[in-house]
Amino acid sequence: MDPVRNPFTPGAGQPPTALVGRVSEVAAARTTMARLESHRQARGAVFLGVQGVGKAVLLNEVRRQATTRGWIIAKVEASSGYPFRSAIAQGFNASLRSATGRHQPATLSRSLAVFKAFSLASSPDGSLALGIDVEASRGIADTGNLEIDLTELLGELGSTAASLNIGVALIVDELHALGDNEIASLCGALHDTAQHGLPVTMFGAGLPNLGSALSNAKSYAEHLFDIKTIEPFTDEVAAEMLTAATTTERVGWTGDAIRIVLNAARGYPYFLQVYGKHVWDFALASPITGSDARAGVAAGEAYLARSFFGSRWNRTTPAQQQYLTVLANLETNENRASTSLIAESLNRSLGTLSSTRDQLLRKSLIYAPDRGTVAFTTPGMSTFVRAKQKTVTGE
Ligand SMILES: Nc1ncnc2c1ncn2[C@@H]1O[C@H](COP(=O)(O)OP(=O)(O)OP(=O)(O)O)[C@@H](O)[C@H]1O
Ligand SMILES: [Mg+2]
Repeated sequence: MDPVRNPFTPGAGQPPTALVGRVSEVAAARTTMARLESHRQARGAVFLGVQGVGKAVLLNEVRRQATTRGWIIAKVEASSGYPFRSAIAQGFNASLRSATGRHQPATLSRSLAVFKAFSLASSPDGSLALGIDVEASRGIADTGNLEIDLTELLGELGSTAASLNIGVALIVDELHALGDNEIASLCGALHDTAQHGLPVTMFGAGLPNLGSALSNAKSYAEHLFDIKTIEPFTDEVAAEMLTAATTTERVGWTGDAIRIVLNAARGYPYFLQVYGKHVWDFALASPITGSDARAGVAAGEAYLARSFFGSRWNRTTPAQQQYLTVLANLETNENRASTSLIAESLNRSLGTLSSTRDQLLRKSLIYAPDRGTVAFTTPGMSTFVRAKQKTVTGE
């Protein structure tokens, strides 16, 4: 069918034509916001999940709701290559500028001055405080220590928000990219604002091992956030995703076609989007049939092998590939393998393998679900790696 009208949106963080599922997570975020607006206590949320399960899309929905409620927010994508402090300043800048258009200047003036001090201490050239034309406050949020300055910034923004019956939210994706110090500073600052009863919170997302990184950093993280694993869609929600996308183009599916795509995608939103897109390209008319679905799934699988799994594989060295191959073969039903069994199978000691493991962790190709185990961050990667091994060994 017409590629111009293709309603599927495969790709990290791509907003879907129709957002489905995640009802309880979105409702919980709404409750948190409403409670904070009415000066009650509430916990933020951290969404954990493997790649492609829909964390960014969920966070974007939370952000949309916070924006609609007039909250002061900083949307931040954590990255090991960019200072977290600068990313926070950049995130608040846009939100504060838009707030100046909605509120009396006097209400915001102190917050703006403290924000300016915070951002100048991150970037003295003023590039992170563009359009904030106030004098920076002195002696507050400008020490250069992230925990102290963030506590003071969030405290000030929180007081302003409380007086306006709104709230302040940090919305941070890719939290696993932060260093332990940054996570600890973030938790410390949020703990402080919570203790002062201020309407300040965080909604975050990251790979599954983030839960232990959070509680290692600050033992009270679990009291600050509802730490929630985002699961793949049930069959019912997955079917709804396919039909909701194509309904916008007045196109339906046969039951057979839906089943074929559901079996291939196993509930992962990214895979549903990839297969959906390819099936659409094969289909000639509505409803989409079983044979359209079979052809589209085959094309989608080839695309995933080439672009999604293949690009991850190609970013690895031969030693890392060897490690991944053993992991793929030893993986248990819970999709993980013990690091000592991996070492044993490679005839190596745990110590000599730890640098390979750390490199793979840093590349986010694997994560550590528990002490002494590792797992793939990408669903389906182990099948890909095993298939690759067969082609190499000529089986
Ligand atoms: N609730 C949803 N409804 C419809 N489509 C969705 C939903 N959630 C995610 N998707 C689609 O799935 C794909 C992956 O989503 P997203 O980027 O949010 O995953 P992620 O968990 O952040 O992945 P990564 O760990 O790789 O960053 C995107 O193409 C997105 O459009
Ligand atoms: Mg993401």
